[in-house]
Amino acid sequence: MKTVQGLLKEGTGLLKEVGLKNPARDTELLLGYSLELNKLSLYTSPNKPVSAEKTALFYSYISRRAVNEPLSYIIGTKEFMDCTFLVNRNVLIPRPETEHLVEEAIALSKGFLAPVALDLGTGSGCIAVCFKKAVPQAQLTAVDVSEAALMTARKNARANNISGINFRRSDLFSALEENEDFDLIVSNPPYITTEEYAALLPETKLFEPELALQGGSDGLEFYRKILFEAPARLRQGGFLLFEVGYRQAGQVSDMIESTGKLKTQKVVRDLAYIERVVIASRI
Ligand SMILES: C[S@@+](CC[C@H](N)C(=O)[O-])C[C@H]1O[C@@H](n2cnc3c(N)ncnc32)[C@H](O)[C@@H]1O
Repeated sequence: MKTVQGLLKEGTGLLKEVGLKNPARDTELLLGYSLELNKLSLYTSPNKPVSAEKTALFYSYISRRAVNEPLSYIIGTKEFMDCTFLVNRNVLIPRPETEHLVEEAIALSKGFLAPVALDLGTGSGCIAVCFKKAVPQAQLTAVDVSEAALMTARKNARANNISGINFRRSDLFSALEENEDFDLIVSNPPYITTEEYAALLPETKLFEPELALQGGSDGLEFYRKILFEAPARLRQGGFLLFEVGYRQAGQVSDMIESTGKLKTQKVVRDLAYIERVVIASRI
């Protein structure tokens, strides 16, 4: 029978051989996940025998990781803010930098009694669920063009005990009522350029949905489309919050100004000091 220590060594060796960056960390995580043990327990019980069934399960995870499948898809969850989100190949894995967008939306919501808010491109629902958790009185609509993503988002709301989010399938604003407008519009749209997309790491390119990533030849297609309609959808005194990609904040601010109806209020940097969130208001 295999032991914990033996499997750690074997898994690490395999992942190292295929050139993964953190073979030991990934192996510890996958073995821990297979055996329902934390890292400390793995190292304090090196000689613990592992059943054939658990060994097979661990091997199946290692083979998925060996072809670059993200750990979050293998494990099926990702932590975001103080919640756990179910993830699968229909949804982008929530990124830590997106937490800044949610924090800013929560801070701005304090200026409203019960803000009417919209999350455009909700994906796993991470923004919508964390926002609604912090601002339960908000009247929140979350849309995505992908029905499969919406199914996951709905599950995530339930799994985190959040109710009252109006999840709707919509190509941006298209399925909303003509007169529906909002105090807050939040979006982390697809913003990777076609060129960047081609050069993405296999971990992202082969597994995460292209629909969630590609923002057209200059990466700005969604900002353009959203800004075309946002002034009419934003209430007086309302705010539009965008997550933006590396070096896009300046261009997105210019696009905001050129609507003639919106003004950039603030640009927020992430922990890597990259300009990550652009906030605009109605003039
Ligand atoms: C960058 S992901 C963001 C997902 C999630 N909000 C997050 O921050 O992790 C962009 C999302 O926009 C959705 N999307 C792409 N095109 C769309 C469209 N035309 N209308 C609505 N949603 C769209 C994708 O399916 C994807 O879920």
